[in-house]
Amino acid sequence: MNHPSLHCCLVTLSILVAFSLLISITLESRRLLLSATQIFSGPPINVNTQVQVASRSENVFSTLSQPTLAVVIPLNSYGLSDLRNALSFFGSPSVRQVLLLCPESISLEVEHSLRDLILSEKSSHHAVYSIIPRRNSDSLVAAVFESLSSSNSDWILVTDERGLEDIDPTSQELLLHPTSLVYPKGPRGIRLSSTEFLCLSPSSSIQTASYLVPPFVMPTNVVRGLGGNPQTWQEFGEIVSKCMFGEFGGLVFPLHDSDTRENQDWCNLNDSGARSSHISNISSNEILVEDIGRDQPVLSERLTNVFITIFSTLEELRLFAPVICSLQSNGTKVHNLLDTRSGLSYDRMRTGSCVLEFKSLMSVDIHSGFDPNSTVLITLAEMDHRIHGATNIHISRKDLPYCSWMASLTEAEWRDWHRPRLTISVITKDRPSSLARLLSSISSGLFFGDSIDMRIHLEQSADYETTQVVKRFSWRHGSLFVHHRIIHGGLLPAVVESWYPHTNDSYGLLLEDDVELSPLFYPWIKMSLLRYRYGESIGKYPNLFGISLYQQKSIELHPDGRRSFNASHIFLENDIPKFSPYFSQIPCSWGAVYFPEHWSEFHDYLAIRFSEITFKLDNIVVPDVRSNRWTKSWKKFFIELVFLRAYVMLYPNFPDYISLSTNHLEVGSHVKLRTKAKQEAFSVPLMQLPVNGKQILQILDLPGGTLPVAPPVLNLTGFLSTIDALTAVGASRRTEMLKCDMDVRSSPPFDARTLLCLS
Ligand SMILES: *[C@@H]1O[C@H](CO)[C@@H](O)[C@H](O)[C@H]1NC(C)=O
Ligand SMILES: *[C@@H]1O[C@H](CO)[C@@H](O)[C@H](O)[C@H]1NC(C)=O
Ligand SMILES: *[C@@H]1O[C@H](CO)[C@@H](O)[C@H](O)[C@H]1NC(C)=O
Ligand SMILES: *[C@@H]1O[C@H](CO)[C@@H](O)[C@H](O)[C@H]1NC(C)=O
Ligand SMILES: *[C@@H]1O[C@H](CO)[C@@H](O)[C@H](O)[C@H]1NC(C)=O
Ligand SMILES: *[C@@H]1O[C@H](CO)[C@@H](O)[C@H](O)[C@H]1NC(C)=O
Ligand SMILES: *[C@@H]1O[C@H](CO)[C@@H](O)[C@H](O)[C@H]1NC(C)=O
Repeated sequence: MNHPSLHCCLVTLSILVAFSLLISITLESRRLLLSATQIFSGPPINVNTQVQVASRSENVFSTLSQPTLAVVIPLNSYGLSDLRNALSFFGSPSVRQVLLLCPESISLEVEHSLRDLILSEKSSHHAVYSIIPRRNSDSLVAAVFESLSSSNSDWILVTDERGLEDIDPTSQELLLHPTSLVYPKGPRGIRLSSTEFLCLSPSSSIQTASYLVPPFVMPTNVVRGLGGNPQTWQEFGEIVSKCMFGEFGGLVFPLHDSDTRENQDWCNLNDSGARSSHISNISSNEILVEDIGRDQPVLSERLTNVFITIFSTLEELRLFAPVICSLQSNGTKVHNLLDTRSGLSYDRMRTGSCVLEFKSLMSVDIHSGFDPNSTVLITLAEMDHRIHGATNIHISRKDLPYCSWMASLTEAEWRDWHRPRLTISVITKDRPSSLARLLSSISSGLFFGDSIDMRIHLEQSADYETTQVVKRFSWRHGSLFVHHRIIHGGLLPAVVESWYPHTNDSYGLLLEDDVELSPLFYPWIKMSLLRYRYGESIGKYPNLFGISLYQQKSIELHPDGRRSFNASHIFLENDIPKFSPYFSQIPCSWGAVYFPEHWSEFHDYLAIRFSEITFKLDNIVVPDVRSNRWTKSWKKFFIELVFLRAYVMLYPNFPDYISLSTNHLEVGSHVKLRTKAKQEAFSVPLMQLPVNGKQILQILDLPGGTLPVAPPVLNLTGFLSTIDALTAVGASRRTEMLKCDMDVRSSPPFDARTLLCLS
């Protein structure tokens, strides 16, 4: 937003000079020498003639003529019913003009109501009424200042859509019978400093404010003379303070002894229920809101990336605030819009050190003024907003409390939000209760409005109960397909054929039925995909073949048997953040996502391997790993591919092995016998949703609060390594085995044929 240019005209200055001489106001910040009574209860004065008066008379306070007043009432679409009420304050003879600023869309209605009103009341109104339509997209404050050009009154009184309804009698009197002082003055002001955001209401003495919010009154010609092009009341205050050397933008009336102190309903969100009940239920007292103009300026920035949020209540905005604050703290412009049915739209919310500004959706045309190509719109799935061509993100209302992980997303990652598409593939046979547990955990997942397709694969030997569990299952987040084999395949084809990518943006989450998921499994996947496959990192991690939800607690690949494993031990010894997520070569089969290029290559690799074209099926590809003894496992072959190619999978590494999936190790194809020791070696706690805001481990509890750019790399037996070192090991094994003279590092990526030296 442009800072308003300041050009104070000479008239203003000369008035000021005259004034400062005559009434000895030291126009320095907060050092008013006049008492409250001198300023505010002197007889009215016609500002138009002040300059002449000042030059020939000592008596500034003498009444030259009855000053005239123009009232500007900005109406909003919901303000109509209150019109009668709002106008009831302006029957005084000094009110010459009433300017009703209203949205174009309702100007006709306003005209009818106004006519009825004036006819029906044998009214004492002396004023001329004008209806000034304005475009919704215009700043209300700018519109107010524009309307001054049609005013020929001495003073201008700006109110809100309710007239002076909530204003105490003394302040009403002072507003309707303004006196000499040239500053904008009224009962409501805001004092801002780097540390302070204070709402000012009348108190025992006059107070200086950084700016005023309506209602306030000011001399018409002074305001005209100020120039500038303020878009908000705050900017107007800044102009006043710069032009008038006061270091303040307005004065707040003192309180008359007999008045009761005005409560700060207009300011504190806390108590704002009096005027706007839907936002009254926010108890957090760290939030303070400010009511500047009702509407705000047109949004016309063409920044590289513009973020727009649209929510329906302040509470929703507050829930999403951590994400917005994170974007803002990185310099990203976020426009927060509230699609509220209340006429009142607050303007500012503070949580901790973060200030969120927001406007009424009515005041903005989101469909123009933005380059959709660089716009990200975040709104609720329950609301029907969308900007054609922009990145439109629709989050379910119930997911809002769990969005904090999004704070780690970069602008580019946000823009790629919709690119990855996940398919969940469930492989099951005859463990109905395991399957039911898995399906229920998937359904409890949070998907943040994303569409997820699901496939359930029933083995030929699936039992009746299992089939019933599948039939009873319904899936709300995307399409659901059920497959049933008629010839027994076994686990290898069941898993390998359960999913095949359609594009380079297709991802498969492969789940056997004894797995159970955390409700947060999807954000872990989404965040990792966006970090390592999209945004700034497109093409940067070609070796990454998948994302594990499960945390390794044991490593099975040591030639001499299973060993317990704790990645933090290794990291601590090597000056790596203890709980850093890491890349490991071990493919996980207990809840993991596989990437399209690597999975397609794996299919080709298996086909070639089973054909025995290059070497015998029982040849050993990876030396000294226990998987060589596994005969029917797809993982054995995946490990070979991973070894030759130096592929890696991302693993979580939260404290206490907290994971996004666990395995219950129930008796099945692989597990013949379930011992307690074996179960303890594999089952891990699942990450849970916070309840009642209680602090528990969440996805962003990562070193630095974000996924690492270069995660540590572990080899198949759990030793620290690097991609380069692994690549060298794999390449040399390939040369040794295949006697192939084409170097794997210069052959096409993801091509199993060239990998296996078949040209
Ligand atoms: C907010 O409301 C609470 C309870 O109603 C009250 O104790 C507190 O003083 C209020 N805070 C402000 C800033 O008004
Ligand atoms: C706010 O709303 C919640 C849920 O609707 C309710 O439980 C709570 O009592 C409300 N709080 C206040 C202060 O009204
Ligand atoms: C937005 O992107 C589309 C497709 O890339 C392009 O045709 C269009 O011109 C772009 N629009 C703007 C305003 O840059
Ligand atoms: C914030 O900005 C820094 C520096 O430009 C960048 O490295 C970082 O990724 C950004 N973070 C987010 C969440 O956008
Ligand atoms: C998918 O990725 C592969 C391997 O990088 C690449 O050869 C292919 O062109 C990509 N396909 C599309 C449609 O981008
Ligand atoms: C893993 O090792 C780290 C570092 O020695 C230790 O702090 C942590 O408690 C260990 N985790 C478990 C579950 O034993
Ligand atoms: C992993 O690295 C360690 C240490 O360099 C090495 O002894 C081990 O053989 C490697 N494992 C595999 C499967 O290559």
